[in-house]
Amino acid sequence: MTATENADGRTRRRLDELARRRAELAAQATERGAGRQHAKGKLTARERIDLLLDPDSFTELDALARHRCHNYGMEEQRPYGDGVVTGYGTIDGRKVCVYAQDFTVLGGSLGEVFGEKIIKVLDLAIRTGCPVIGINDSGGARIQEGVVSLAYYAELVKRHVAASGVIPQISLIIGPCAGGAVYAPATTDLVVMVEDISHMFVTGPDVLQAVTGQTVGMEELGGAHRHNAVSGAAHYMAADEKDAFDYVRMVLGHLPSNNMGDTPVFAPTAARELTEADRALDTLIPDRTAESYDMMRVVNAVIDDGELTQFHQLFAPNVICGLARVEGHSVGVVANQPTHLAGALDIDASEKAARFIRFCDAFHVPVLTFVDVPGFLTSMEQERDGIIRRGAKLIYAYCEATVPMVTVITRKAYGGGYGVMGSKHLGIDVNLAWPTAEIAVMGGESAVRIIHRQDIRQAEDPEETRERLVSEYTETMCTPYVAAERGYVDAVIMPHETRAQVATALDTLRDKRMTRLPRKHGNIPL
Ligand code: HXC
Repeated sequence: MTATENADGRTRRRLDELARRRAELAAQATERGAGRQHAKGKLTARERIDLLLDPDSFTELDALARHRCHNYGMEEQRPYGDGVVTGYGTIDGRKVCVYAQDFTVLGGSLGEVFGEKIIKVLDLAIRTGCPVIGINDSGGARIQEGVVSLAYYAELVKRHVAASGVIPQISLIIGPCAGGAVYAPATTDLVVMVEDISHMFVTGPDVLQAVTGQTVGMEELGGAHRHNAVSGAAHYMAADEKDAFDYVRMVLGHLPSNNMGDTPVFAPTAARELTEADRALDTLIPDRTAESYDMMRVVNAVIDDGELTQFHQLFAPNVICGLARVEGHSVGVVANQPTHLAGALDIDASEKAARFIRFCDAFHVPVLTFVDVPGFLTSMEQERDGIIRRGAKLIYAYCEATVPMVTVITRKAYGGGYGVMGSKHLGIDVNLAWPTAEIAVMGGESAVRIIHRQDIRQAEDPEETRERLVSEYTETMCTPYVAAERGYVDAVIMPHETRAQVATALDTLRDKRMTRLPRKHGNIPL
């Protein structure tokens, strides 16, 4: 006699009960719910998880959990799962934890059980040291559950903060995310939004209108473009949901599973022999110093396959930040972009790069910096808005980082920009400069205007004198050699040597170990 055929059929009934509950769970995913979701151009929570994870790798947790709320007739609808799908699976064969809010169930609103489920999966990710990916699509705090919902948001954020710098945490906003609910994703490492269907705001358009009288649309207030290009609250704007999941998979492919792990290593994609792309760097820098060029050409020539996974691509484009590989090993690229604001550092660029460097440092990703910076942006607005306090984040981030760091100066490294952008003095391990590097307090025109004002005024031919003095200053001071003589750059290299030199430097630094003095934490200017 088998277990299911025992005398009173009790075991059979128990198995049937589970089958019934499972069927009920499956039936909950109604065509109506999915249809409403699809009509908004959105996938369902389960479709999203399927797209994100490796096929058939998902194991669900708490599928049968149900809310315990008795307010407002809530007893009448106690859907299984309570509006959030949680569990674990793999991405490229590596373990991850995931949760996806299900807007088709109670508007994906967060109540007590919903909160417990997310906390459980976050705790599991922290305990086992694997990345966690949260998919947000929710009406926010479940109105019927009152303060309990608010409490769970705060509990959630507490977990995200505890996990910060321990495991990679990625948030996707694919639908609404409003009110205090925005602060859970905001405390994670990366926020991804999808064009047209993602919205994030502390105060929605209706309340804003009531309080301030301003009429603003959802898109303008908190759409994907707004947060990617203007506020900087999001790091990537995906064209559609598949693009968003592809991006997340790409980012995770560059990271260790946790701060104690190693980044995945791939086979080098190119030999050290000189390529056309290497040689092309010798003619990249324009003769006229005021002329711009695309720093992406330098970055692409140095990294494997020219593949840079950018962070904040639409925000502060005067600095480029992204993950790449050099000879198969992960690297975080930070580079001034002369095609935007001449590569000058402003508040947004400083904060963008600072956060990225700290992200790399937390997860053992070496930082590779390319410098062409005329300095900090000169503007009344920038001074007023706190370029001192906010620009300081960048220098702070370089100073506190302990990962291997390599800097290449391609052209301008003037004034504060020189000091801040990965200079030797901040603890950068290997500093290289091209012969076209101009490492000085400022450019010739500005310098001569200040130190030779009297000479020019008193000269017989002021314009000719000015030009001669500018030329003299530029030839003697705006070069890499003053710095090289003092060891502020370790080597002046031909541009075509950059890829090999960077690869050798990173290889040499691979086992770098540095410890800081014990302290509770530093006090980065916020
Ligand atoms: C309970 C909710 C809900 C909520 C939506 N629903 N939001 N149920 N609590 N917060 C339910 C709706 O009643 C509806 O149920 C279903 O979800 C779908 O909602 P719709 O309104 O039909 O969808 P749509 O037209 O797409 O509008 C989406 C929306 C809207 C813009 C998100 O639902 C909305 O404005 N919701 C409230 C948003 C909000 O203010 N939340 C509180 C934020 S404050 P039926 O049964 O009709 O299908 C917050 C505090 C966090 O979250 C604090 C942290 C410390």
